Formats: sequence, C-alpha cells, structure tokens
Amino acid sequence: MSKLDYNDSHWRRLNLPHDWAIEGDFYAGNPSGAGGGALPGGVGWYRKHFKIGYPSMYYIEFDGVYMNATVYINGHQLGFRPYGYSSFEYDITRYLRSGDNVIAVRVDNSDQPNSRWYSGCGIYRHVWLTMTHATHVKHWGVQVVTDAKKRRAEVKVDVEGRNYQVKHTLYDGQGVAVAEATGVRATLNVPRSSLQLWSPETPYTYQVLTQVMVDGAVVDQVWTTTAFRDFRFDAKTGFWLNGKNMKINGVCEHHDFGCLGAAVYEDALHRKLTKLKAMGVNAIRSSHNPPAPELLNMCDTMGFIVMDESFDMWRRRKTQNDYARFFDQWHERDLTDLVLRDRNHPCILMWSIGNEVLEQWSSAEADTLTLEQANLILNAGHDASTLAKDGEMSVNTLLADHLADIVRRYDTTRPITAGCNEPSPGNHLFRGKAIDIIGFNYHHEWIKDVPKNFPKRPFIMTESVSALQTNGFYKMPSDNIFKAPKEWWMPYTDPSFMCSAYDNMHASWSSTHEQTWDVVKHTPYVSGQFIWTGFDYIGEPTPYGFPARSSYFGIIDLAGQPKDIYYMYQSEWTEKPVLHLFPHWNWIPGEEIDMWCYYSQADEVELFINGKSQGVRRKAAQLPDQSSPVTATEYHVMWRVIFEPGEVKVVARKDGEVVREQTIRTAGYPEKIKLTKDYEGKDLTFVSVEVVDKDGNRCPWAEDEITFIGEGDGGILASDNGCQTSMERFTSPRRKAFFGRCMVVFKGKGSITAKSPMLAPAVINIKN
Ligand code: GAL
Repeated sequence: MSKLDYNDSHWRRLNLPHDWAIEGDFYAGNPSGAGGGALPGGVGWYRKHFKIGYPSMYYIEFDGVYMNATVYINGHQLGFRPYGYSSFEYDITRYLRSGDNVIAVRVDNSDQPNSRWYSGCGIYRHVWLTMTHATHVKHWGVQVVTDAKKRRAEVKVDVEGRNYQVKHTLYDGQGVAVAEATGVRATLNVPRSSLQLWSPETPYTYQVLTQVMVDGAVVDQVWTTTAFRDFRFDAKTGFWLNGKNMKINGVCEHHDFGCLGAAVYEDALHRKLTKLKAMGVNAIRSSHNPPAPELLNMCDTMGFIVMDESFDMWRRRKTQNDYARFFDQWHERDLTDLVLRDRNHPCILMWSIGNEVLEQWSSAEADTLTLEQANLILNAGHDASTLAKDGEMSVNTLLADHLADIVRRYDTTRPITAGCNEPSPGNHLFRGKAIDIIGFNYHHEWIKDVPKNFPKRPFIMTESVSALQTNGFYKMPSDNIFKAPKEWWMPYTDPSFMCSAYDNMHASWSSTHEQTWDVVKHTPYVSGQFIWTGFDYIGEPTPYGFPARSSYFGIIDLAGQPKDIYYMYQSEWTEKPVLHLFPHWNWIPGEEIDMWCYYSQADEVELFINGKSQGVRRKAAQLPDQSSPVTATEYHVMWRVIFEPGEVKVVARKDGEVVREQTIRTAGYPEKIKLTKDYEGKDLTFVSVEVVDKDGNRCPWAEDEITFIGEGDGGILASDNGCQTSMERFTSPRRKAFFGRCMVVFKGKGSITAKSPMLAPAVINIKN
C-alpha cells in the first residue's frame, strides 16, 4: 500500500486531521478496554496524491500520529516514529518526481492496551508540506529567549546553506516594528515605551520575523510568537508573575474533544479554552504528553500558563503495550523534539519530565498488570523499603537527572517538575538535581509537611482533586462524603453507574474540590494546582468499569456542559458575580432535598419555596468539622428542605440590598425541543439541546431520543449528552436527552432540525 502505483481508487476520501476510532462502536471486547474508551484500535493506512510545481526543497511535517507511524514517499520508507504525541519532519526532496507523487502512512495502534485514557487512532493532528529555497531556516531552527527586566529578546537561528544574511524584526501586538537586528545570533532591544508584559489577564504577545536573504533577496522567513514575562517559584511565597504573587489555578487536560474524538479541531479547542477561561482557570497541564501545537498557540494568545509534559511512563510500563517498550531507544529523541518544538512559546512556564512514573520507587514492577490494576496501584501507597535511603543515588535518580539534562540542554529558562504520587523525600526522583519544583499529585494532607520535608524548595500540586461527578445526578445527604472506591484496592459498583454532582464524591486517593482548594488557597507556599480534570475525557471511567467508558473527573462534562462545581471555582477565581442554585426542582412531594448555592460579591443569600423563606445563609470562615447538617462552608451554603412543586428562589444581598436572584420552577410535561448556540466557531457550531415544558422550563428527567437533520454545506458531525455510559455512537445524528439535555456539533453553514416523536420540533440556522 506504500507503492506509487497501488490502486487506491476505491478508498474512502477524508480530511485530516482524522481519528478512525471515534467512528466505531463501544464494545467491551475492544482491546483498549473501558480505560481506553472501549473503542476500536487496529491498523490504518492513509494515502495522499500530489503534484509539485517546480524544483525546490520539500519537507513533510506531522504534528502527531497515534501511533507507530511509518511514512513512505513514492514507495520509499522515510522513517518510523512510535510515540503518538511527538511531532516530526522528513525531507522528501530527493524522492519527488514530476507528475503524481504519493505520501503513504501506515498507522499501527493494534497492540493494546497502550494508554490509560482514550488515545484516538490515526493522523489526528495536522500535516504540513513545506516548500523552501535551498538556503532556509532549519526545522525548529529559531530560538527566541526574552528577558523582561532587560527588555530584550535574544534570537538564534540555524540556517541551511551558504552566503546568506539574516535579519530579525520584532513587531509589537499592534504590528508595529519596534526593534531590528541582523545575524544568526542577535539581540533585539525593546524601547521602554513599547514594552508590555504577558500574563493570563493581559496576554500581550510580540512576533519576531526572521528573514534569510541571498544577494539581498529574501529566500525564507519564519514568524515566531514571543512575549515578555518575569516569573519565579518561591519556597515560602509560591508563584510570582511580573512582580505579583498569584496562584496557578490550573486544570489537567487530555487531548480528546469528546464526541469529536482526538482529531484536532481548532474550534473545539478554542471552545474548551473559552469555557475554562470564563471559569477563572489560568493554567493548563498537557497531561501526560506533548500537546497539539494549536493548544500552545492559543494559550500564548488567550493567556494560559502551561506545564508541558513529556511522558506518562519511563522504563516501567503502566499498561501492557505502552511507550515503556520504546523508552530506551526513543526517549532522548522524543524529549529533545518536545523542547525544540515548544520552547519559544511564552505560555510554557514549566516542563514536566513525567507523570507518576513507577521509577519513583526502587522496586515497583508493573509488568503483569492489567489496565485497571495499573490505575489502582498508581494511586496506592508503596512500601517504605522501596524509597531511597539517605545518601543513595539510585539508577532511578540518575535516570531522572538524565531526562532533566536533556531538557536543560535546549532550554534553561524554565524550571522542571514531575507529577509525583510519592510525596515523601525518599522518592527517588526528588533525590538528584532533576526537579526544580517539587510536584505532588494528590496527598493534600502532606502539604503541611512540605517545608520540613523539602526545605527551601518551591512546591506545586501538579495534580489534584479527582472528584467524581455525573452532570445532573445528586446523591443525598449532600453533606455525606462518598468515597468510590472506599480503598484503592476495593471494587466499586452502583447500579446507577453515576456519581454525585454535589461536591461530595471522590476516589480513595483524592478529595472533594473544596478540600483541596481550601489547602491551596490558605497555604502561601503552594504555588497552585492542576485539577484533575477541566473536561471529562474518553476512557478511565473510575470508579466503574464497562459500560462506563468516559471519565467522571471533569468540572465540565464530555459534551462541554459545566457541572455545578464550575460555579464554585468561578465564584473564587473570577471577578464575575456568581449566583448558582442547584439541583433542579422536580422531585417527589414530601421528599427531603438539599439545595446548594455558590455565590460571590454578596453578604448573604436567602432561599424561598413558593414565597416562604427557608432561612438566610452566609458562607462560613472555615471548612466545618463533620457535624451534620453542614449548612455553610467557606465555599457554599446549603438548605435541607421539603420538596413541594412550584418554584424555588434564591436572593443574594449585599449591604442589605438585593443584588441578584435566581428562580428554578418545577417543569411540567415534556412538550418541545429548545435549541441554543453553545459555541459558534469558524467552522464548527455547538448547539445545546433541551427538552422543555410548555413554558420553556427544562425537564430534568426527560430522556427522549432526538434526531438531528442537518442541511447545508457541511452537516452533523457528532452528538453527545455527557452520560458516561451511553452506548450511542458519537458520530450518530441521534442522541437521547440525559437529564433533559444534549449537544450536537454541526460543521459549516446551514440549519439543524431537531425532532422527537413526542415533542414539538425545533430548527436553528447556523451562519445563515
Ligand atoms: C492520577 C493520574 C491520572 C489519572 C488520575 C485519576 O494518579 O496521574 O492520569 O489516572 O490519577 O484519579
């Protein structure tokens, strides 16, 4: 299939980026397992025919292919890359011919499981064909290092060719040239009047234009986004940016886009980041692998700090067929490529050399584990005998140092950390010189000992929380904390296959959102945290197994609908006034219901049921002890009330004046479908779908199946409802409502008609 004359006329035509697994059916027998999303793997081939205009230099660059990619040009094998998250380039010049040329790519994701989450399958990131002059800037050949205090940018460029000149121009955010310099190493000095600093609130970026000239004519040029910011991590006071002490309020993100799969859609990425920004998130951890370049581009310009992470495992595997089998041969190349590709991004403020690698301990073998067992053991305590002894420099410590050396070879401007789930100083990774910022995953109860255990070393929670929630499902009493599973080695089952959207359910190794945020907020030496996770993702459906096939950890569900906890963070992390009352108001008369409220910029809130006051609540100064009922914490208030149909209303007051109100009404029978735009991008539009009663109130128990008919130049791409156990295909134009709602994704211009047998239909126009 790699040959030029192979007959591919019967092949399916498609656009890249592409993920074939998302088109499949969920099936317990798929070898990825529920941990990998229970979707198919296998081998796929791609072929692309093209003609070239005139002789020149040609390169083909892949941003990411999952996984084991063998690339051919006209039947000649260019190379093989196993790691599904690395970007790579080949020079194809000498294999090209006039007339038809064919690039063929074999992608092999058949050895499974090889991931603890859904990876996707195929050429799921962009591919670029670059044509250049014989004299040109080499791949990733420009390096820009800025210094905010000295107001200058040092530029280095690696050029292929001879007898050339190089010129660099620095443009400010308005496109005005503010500095110029020449040479393969040059300094651009920024005038004081035009220096603007980058931060999450003001993500001010500059562009460096590097031009290569031969005999005065420009033969190649590269644009590099850069910015000026001054940051440090302090052992006593945490994180500082541009002279300001602040918390890193981050989330961990895997790379999939729910029903759209792993294929990179810029609109889906922008939607994700827009929702996180509105919640107050200021940082992203690319867990646990190199991200798509588009993520970093958007973080530069939208203002997110990034922790760029390399690996989820080193030499010791976590799943049967994962990257550990390639690590010895490939880690140096993959880590080098990550740093060379990403080091110019101003958003990146930390490198992570690994997540919960088993080399933290001296004898944590995992060779015989299943995916589920591996997940559990990762979160378990290890025997003290596996920790480093005083004075010991183990092989594992040396390996961590070696990886850090690779990073520092190409970038010394950012500190290195690692997501560690062994919080004691006996962790082999903490022993050498690799780790600049001590990073723990979970273990919030160990944070008080950080100054004693790691004197003079800065600290961050590289991963935190892992609370478990199904959007729309509420487990009462809400002040009871449910652990699922109770201990990491125990199984957990519940016939509902749901988790509670009150902040009262988490895994045995983790915490509620409030518990961890309370520690981070009130401990000055904690630089911040990366919550597991911003969005739900496909795979890892802890605490359940199949038919659960996507995660419960997200603050936002898989369809992109915020869970209630989103508003707790918004009330703590933004200046936006928040008033969020939940759950819905459709219960059995006489039932005891816990109503929660998140609010900000008010002194008190009062709840009314059909006009009768249920009392005034104020947030408490501290988290309470476990006495019940807990009616107030520093982050939420609660009323335990008796349900009666009608309306429940919350009123927020400041200085005695009503500043905001929210009313939820008991919905009547499902009557019609309501469509609203959730996000409108350049190419994709996400539409929220609700089943409502005659007055427009969402019916929270409606499960009607809705059929979408797309008309226009594109059509329906996928649909989802956030339910972790739905077996409906993601690419299906039919979706059951889940707690009264779902989401549909449309490509292009046109319209969507939504129909269901018992409901009045609805139509929405997209860009028409
Ligand atoms: C962590 C791990 C994550 C995820 C999470 C679930 O230990 O780093 O990848 O598995 O647990 O709680």
